[in-house]
Amino acid sequence: MKALRFLITAGPTREFIDPIRFISNRSSGKMGYALAEAARAVSPNVVLVSGPTALTPPKGVTLVNVVTAQEMADAVLTRFAESDVVIMAAAVCDFRPKMSAGSKIKKQTFGGALELVATIDILAELGKRKDSQLLVGFAAETDDLERNATKKLKSKGLDLIVANEASAFEAETNRVTLFDAAGQKEQLREMPKRDVAAAIVERVLKLRR
Ligand code: CTP
Repeated sequence: MKALRFLITAGPTREFIDPIRFISNRSSGKMGYALAEAARAVSPNVVLVSGPTALTPPKGVTLVNVVTAQEMADAVLTRFAESDVVIMAAAVCDFRPKMSAGSKIKKQTFGGALELVATIDILAELGKRKDSQLLVGFAAETDDLERNATKKLKSKGLDLIVANEASAFEAETNRVTLFDAAGQKEQLREMPKRDVAAAIVERVLKLRR
């Protein structure tokens, strides 16, 4: 059997206000990097599209560095057709400043309000374009985890969604629940992110069979 081609995203994105300032989020990239390592253990063909992190990429993985949500979208969309499994573990910023100033905004001239506009929802776009790819998303929730996660699973056209609480951000461990398109729910115990990643990859392989 041919090895699966994995496309995995990790880390936060940065959305610039001016050349020095940006908005971002607490993502460390650990879950996505652990997934790339787990995927590499079962396939020689793993591309990791990463926002800015302090991590060393796993050996044998093709790393593509990006900064903004739009750069991540471009990197993922151009590689989508040549992928069998896409796992969006990145914490993509949902909003960006409407205007990004070309030079540093001086505090005397700053009006006090920052206008934000929505970024592209990469996963939803992949859901629309998918043919044979298996699509895996994450859901970071503070409330109503199951209801919100299953809603995202359907609205973004996913095969599997990994739901975790906001406490997973920056942590070494994660406690996740997997929901698949066939209505199956599987709650995993709290484990190091490396073990969570191995369980997710194992589940992906089962779904592909
Ligand atoms: N995602 C994405 N593009 C975005 C935002 C999110 O591809 N612009 C992906 C994430 O990588 C994740 C999934 O969508 O796999 C869900 O992200 P999450 O932040 O939990 O949900 P949102 O879609 O942003 O919805 P909400 O803000 O309502 O929770």
